[in-house]
Amino acid sequence: MMDLAAVESAGVQLGRELAPRSVVWLEGPLGAGKTTMARAIVRGRGVPELATSPTYGLVHHYEGPRGSVYHVDCYRLRKPDEAADLDWETLLGGDLLLIEWPARAGAWAPKPTLTLSLDHAGDDSRTMDVR
Ligand SMILES: Nc1ncnc2c1ncn2[C@@H]1O[C@H](COP(=O)(O)OP(=O)(O)O)[C@@H](O)[C@H]1O
Ligand SMILES: [Mg+2]
Repeated sequence: MMDLAAVESAGVQLGRELAPRSVVWLEGPLGAGKTTMARAIVRGRGVPELATSPTYGLVHHYEGPRGSVYHVDCYRLRKPDEAADLDWETLLGGDLLLIEWPARAGAWAPKPTLTLSLDHAGDDSRTMDVR
């Protein structure tokens, strides 16, 4: 079980330690804490608070000390083929690629180096499976 602070500190730690070019899948139902985890990883990577470029479409782009960090949220894809419009080559060419709701991108989602599966465990706690 992890409260908000535990999830955030795990994310910050991951952000520090992940190898360059890691692809992280963030799975789990609505409200499980995927976006919270993605932001913590971005913070742990050393991205300054104001280095957020305007969000375009499904992609959030952050410029960090080790390069570009991309956070793709596939929640709004109505079908996997809509993911064909994303510039995956660029997304894979940065420092980190975080993919929320990867299943919605089907075969377009690049294979993960790490998968984090979050779930609800009551109002104020979550579980996280790492594989
Ligand atoms: N470990 C946690 N314990 C308690 N609340 C959490 C935890 N992780 C996230 N939350 C809260 O749950 C809500 C949904 O989180 P969010 O990251 O947007 O979920 P998701 O992206 O999976 O839909 C937010 O209000 C967030 O603060
Ligand atoms: Mg989310």
